[in-house]
Formats: sequence, structure tokens, C-alpha cells
Amino acid sequence: MNSFLTIAMPKGRIFEEAADLLRKADFRLPPEFDDSRKLILEIEEENLRFILAKPMDVVTYVEHGVADVGIAGKDVMLEEERDVYELLDLKISTCYLAVAGLPNTKISDITPKIASKYPNVASSYFREQGEQVEIIKLNGSIELAPLIGLAERIVDIVSTGQTLKENGLVEYAKIADVTSRLIANPVSYRIKEKRITEIVDRLAEIVNQ
Ligand code: PRP
Repeated sequence: MNSFLTIAMPKGRIFEEAADLLRKADFRLPPEFDDSRKLILEIEEENLRFILAKPMDVVTYVEHGVADVGIAGKDVMLEEERDVYELLDLKISTCYLAVAGLPNTKISDITPKIASKYPNVASSYFREQGEQVEIIKLNGSIELAPLIGLAERIVDIVSTGQTLKENGLVEYAKIADVTSRLIANPVSYRIKEKRITEIVDRLAEIVNQ
């Protein structure tokens, strides 16, 4: 009998692509999976349990071992150093982290303000550039910050580029490419290696097609 496995899935924009990938890999996700408000769903025949978490929290559930594996964005992994294994690049939810701001503007010489949902990524990027900046942490709608005068630059995810465009902002630098990754709790990986490897193989076959 397969050992029981818990998978942490990100709610929101990654969810659809992740569910689609799992279905292609022959995981029989129930139809109500996509629309339900339920946070825990089980596929008894496969001995699988899915928990649905905020994208930023998936890594936390996996790190604490309450989920054996999870699907998390590389952006989250770059922002916080966590004790999890990164097993596979799922090549979904492709986007990148970038510096953006109002067009034709230079940042101040003295401690410019940078707004971001990714304070650690932002701070290490500007440190590498040799610039001393003040990071302002926001939780969303980051593009608002330069428009309203809260910050001179933002560090945020760019996917289609539509949000920047519609708000009259431009990109100044690309920081890192981002895709979703399959991650695992190190202890789960040791104890349930066979089961987890089987999942990696099933997904890798689809991803690398
Ligand atoms: C993300 C990101 C940008 C936007 C980029 O925000 O923070 O705002 O998507 O996508 P685009 O390049 O396709 O326009 P999200 O929609 O996740 O919401 P948030 O602003 O609450 O973070």
C-alpha cells in the first residue's frame, strides 16, 4: 500500500496551471477541486490529501512537515531561505522579478525608497548594485507605490507586463526568472522517498515533454 501523502497547493493564479499539470500526470483530482471553498481535499484511491494554502504559505506547511510536498513559486523560495528540498522545475506560472518605476526617472542619491512584497530579494539586489536603499514592505498592489509617491522604485513580479503598462510604469532591471517548483520536506523525503520519487517522475514526464 502506498504511504499517505499530503500535497500543499497554492490558491490563486498558480492553482489552475498546477491542477492542470496534476491532471495531465493522471492524478484524478475531483471536479469540485477547482471551485470548492474547501481547504482540504482527499483522493482516497491514491492515498493523497491536498491542502490549499496562500502561495507564500505553501513553503511554511512543507517546512513544518504538515505537508510532505508542495508547489511553490521560485519567487517565494528566493525571498525566504527555507529548509525544504526543491525537486522539480514545473515550468508553470512563468514570470520574473523586476525593478520598475515611473519612466525617465533617476533614483535619489540618498537612500531611495523601494516598495516590494519581496523585501529580502529587493534588499539583496540593491546591495549587490552598491546602492543603499530603504525597503518598504507592501502586501500587494505594489504598482501603487511609485504612482502615489510612497517609493521611487518597486521590486515585483512581472508576468504579462499589463499591470505596469496600465499604470504607466516601466521596467528598469530584471532580477530573476520565476517558475513554480515541486518542493518536499526533507524528513518526508527520507521516509516516503519511493512515493515522492514516483510523483516527481510522473510530473517530470509531462513537464519535459
Ligand atoms: C502580481 C504582481 C503584479 C502583477 C503582474 O500581482 O504583483 O502586480 O501580478 O502581472 P502582469 O505582469 O501580468 O500584469 P497579483 O495579481 O498576484 O496581486 P497583488 O498585486 O495583490 O500582489
